Amino acid sequence: MTKAHIHILKDANEVSVKAADMIQEVVEQNERPVLGLATGSTPLGMYRELIDRYQAGEIDFSAVRTFNLDEYYGLAPDHPQSYYQFMMKSFFEHVNVPLEQIHIPHGKPTDVQAYCQQYDAWIEKAGGIDLQILGIGVNGHIGFNEPADELQPFTHLVRLKEETIEANARFFERREDVPQYAITMGIRNILQAKKIILLAIGEDKAAAVAGMLNAGITTRLPATFLQLHDHVHVLVDEAAASKLVSTSR
Ligand code: PGA
Repeated sequence: MTKAHIHILKDANEVSVKAADMIQEVVEQNERPVLGLATGSTPLGMYRELIDRYQAGEIDFSAVRTFNLDEYYGLAPDHPQSYYQFMMKSFFEHVNVPLEQIHIPHGKPTDVQAYCQQYDAWIEKAGGIDLQILGIGVNGHIGFNEPADELQPFTHLVRLKEETIEANARFFERREDVPQYAITMGIRNILQAKKIILLAIGEDKAAAVAGMLNAGITTRLPATFLQLHDHVHVLVDEAAASKLVSTSR
């Protein structure tokens, strides 16, 4: 059982609004806020909500520094399916985070290992992550920390699992176009964030959410490692919460 704060919300919109509220609070309370950001379908509504608030003059991102969790290995930042492009189009092009304060792992570094170490060093130099946003994979991955015998603590190159390639194929023209490798922050990077919000929307995440909260800690369901953190908020809609046993509500 877990200490995580579980928020069961009516629908995707409520999840997005609550997540945006929590981000706004961190942005307002810190002089130089550091956000850990995620890609995928799940946080899109949250980014939309933050853009709306920015355009309404309710939030200022000029002091914010950001670190994205992951990027496909082999896709340059200008590749249309790169997470760099996803973040620019879904969020950064519409708000006032200065470009030099945005960090997204480079998908084509010349020396992967040195680059991963550099990425960790940038996070450290920024003072660590104040608030990390996470989605969850159908297989329980966080970032691209896939189920495996071992998990890596720091930023690293990882081979994607078949189910992840399958799940992400919807963004690509052909399944063969989905990259097989990614660069991702490690489990320790994630757990070092001062606060973590995990968002899950929809029935197909229900089993992973229930496992994350109810199973023992296992590398076979990487999100279970969040049980080691004292300040995790799980924001789920009713469908994603549908496999939680009633005592954990
Ligand atoms: P999704 O991805 O938001 O597109 O479902 C979540 C994840 O794989 O972490």
